[in-house]
Amino acid sequence: MRLIMLGPPGAGKGTQGGMLARALEVPHIATGDIFRQAVREETELGRRAKSYLEQGELVPDEIVVGIVLERLQKPDCGKGFILDGFPRTVQQAEALEEFLQKEGKALTGVILLDVDPEVLVERLTGRRVCRQCGATYHVRNMPPREEGRCDECGGELYQREDDREETVRHRLDVHERQTRPLRDYYEKQDLLHVFDAAQPIEDVFAAIMEQLGRGR
Ligand code: AP5
Ligand code: MG
Ligand code: ZN
Repeated sequence: MRLIMLGPPGAGKGTQGGMLARALEVPHIATGDIFRQAVREETELGRRAKSYLEQGELVPDEIVVGIVLERLQKPDCGKGFILDGFPRTVQQAEALEEFLQKEGKALTGVILLDVDPEVLVERLTGRRVCRQCGATYHVRNMPPREEGRCDECGGELYQREDDREETVRHRLDVHERQTRPLRDYYEKQDLLHVFDAAQPIEDVFAAIMEQLGRGR
């Protein structure tokens, strides 16, 4: 399966993308995670992406597209993939389409997680992430068993730099202007499936699996 997770910051792309990747046994490719890792490791990519991430701006298309298309050529993508956070502009979507066409492949579908912006501010400002394995928690909706520690690996939980309220509001704004047009783009191709992402995590997941014909 070749799926795209679409939706505003905090909609649950990472949460659902991770669950789907485990269930479908395909890689979960999250551009935000790739950039944050590069920043942490102070690579050339990290140096180029850092200020965009901190300000909640999009990293320029020419940087993002190169990274993703290279990743999609790795052998583990043979069975499919889950793209989370990419594409985010029409230009990125076109580049992906062209790449898949050349490979003789097509997208299975685009999963749109739809939620009201006010819910998103609360979700993002309460989010905590494991420094070690990237697992995501929420101080109220999904607290770890031990405060500040990851259930999976015991790693330290931290708050993402761009999850401060001011930056969150800016990211939502950037999403409205630059990413929302992708809904029409995929709707026209008859690939868009909309899910009410205000529902509990397990319910959203069940609805997506059902749609994919993998429901129980
Ligand atoms: P990225 O990391 O992709 O951030 P984002 O799109 O802003 O999305 P988030 O990761 O914040 O939210 P999510 O939808 O994954 O939600 P999550 O599952 O964590 O991008 C970061 C930056 O990188 C960008 O700003 C940009 O600079 C750059 N970038 C990345 N890709 C790019 C691209 N293609 N082009 C250009 N630049 C790019 O859930 C959020 C919280 O809510 C968690 O705490 C979770 O536990 C909780 N939660 C989830 N679902 C539910 C639910 N159903 N009910 C209750 N709580 C829930
Ligand atoms: Mg995410
Ligand atoms: Zn962890």
